Amino acid sequence: MIRDQAEGLRELVKRSKDFAAKARPARLARIISVTSGKGGVGKTNVVVNLGIGLARRGSRVLVIDADLGLANVDIVLGLTSRYNLYHVIKGEKKLQEIIVDGPEGLKVIAGGAGIRELANLSNSQRVQFIASMSELDDYADIILIDTSAGISQNVLGFVLASDEAIVVTTPEPTAIRDAYGIIKAIALENKDAKIRLIVNMAANPQEAEDVASRIEMVARQFLDIGLDKLGYILRDPAVPESVLKQKPFMVAYPTSKASKCVEVIADRLLGLSEEDTFKPKGFKGFIFKFVSLFKKGVA
Ligand SMILES: Nc1ncnc2c1ncn2[C@@H]1O[C@H](COP(=O)(O)OP(=O)(O)O)[C@@H](O)[C@H]1O
Ligand SMILES: [Mg+2]
Repeated sequence: MIRDQAEGLRELVKRSKDFAAKARPARLARIISVTSGKGGVGKTNVVVNLGIGLARRGSRVLVIDADLGLANVDIVLGLTSRYNLYHVIKGEKKLQEIIVDGPEGLKVIAGGAGIRELANLSNSQRVQFIASMSELDDYADIILIDTSAGISQNVLGFVLASDEAIVVTTPEPTAIRDAYGIIKAIALENKDAKIRLIVNMAANPQEAEDVASRIEMVARQFLDIGLDKLGYILRDPAVPESVLKQKPFMVAYPTSKASKCVEVIADRLLGLSEEDTFKPKGFKGFIFKFVSLFKKGVA
């Protein structure tokens, strides 16, 4: 990234963080950006299905489709929404006014597909947009942001303003190289960034582990940062089938291999890791389920 761009970005993040700090003394929602180096690695499917996994565990989850220009969260969910981020960026609507209901309690803010203006936000539009996300605390415990692929001001702006980033890759060498590229870009701006890794479309767990370990090692060696290996999702025909049905695979194929992998990732993200699978998780899982039912007014 050229120097003045990097400086602009630092300023952007500082301004949006200052704004957010003023707007809310304590951060309530956990904001997680999902990004990748290469396109087509499964970000949108991860965001939507992980969102459902987290919602099932009792979190109030809001998905924001910020893949500006290539937005498609609404399509994967089979939703139609009258308003999208285009109307927010144009100043016609507020973020909280365009939230729509997805399956299983998931809340969704649709992007605006194919609108060039969205893909090339000005710095001040970006600051305003990122800052306005702090108004969403009341609507969610976890905000998942589906960002564009590749290193751009938009992506880095979202990622750096988030609490955490999930980088999605596949085992393909090109995807791995580009995942490393985006991790490097994030680390250069914020050495303390919390970066987690998901290997999608893996042939088997061993392949996923090899890919994740390789990226983690290179990041440690050359960037001096630690990565959290969050998990993997196996290549599974249930995924494209669910996309055709316009239903998340967690809903359409809840017992598929891909769904089981996402369940594990949701547990890890909430600290209900595999290691405590037996007693603690069973109990915690129960409490989470209970709380979730309670929130829905069932219990
Ligand atoms: N685990 C998987 N197994 C099989 N196909 C997958 C898997 N994950 C994603 N896909 C397919 O890859 C394509 C791209 O996924 P998508 O979520 O749109 O990626 P992105 O948002 O990164 O562009 C979709 O057609 C989807 O069906
Ligand atoms: Mg996508």
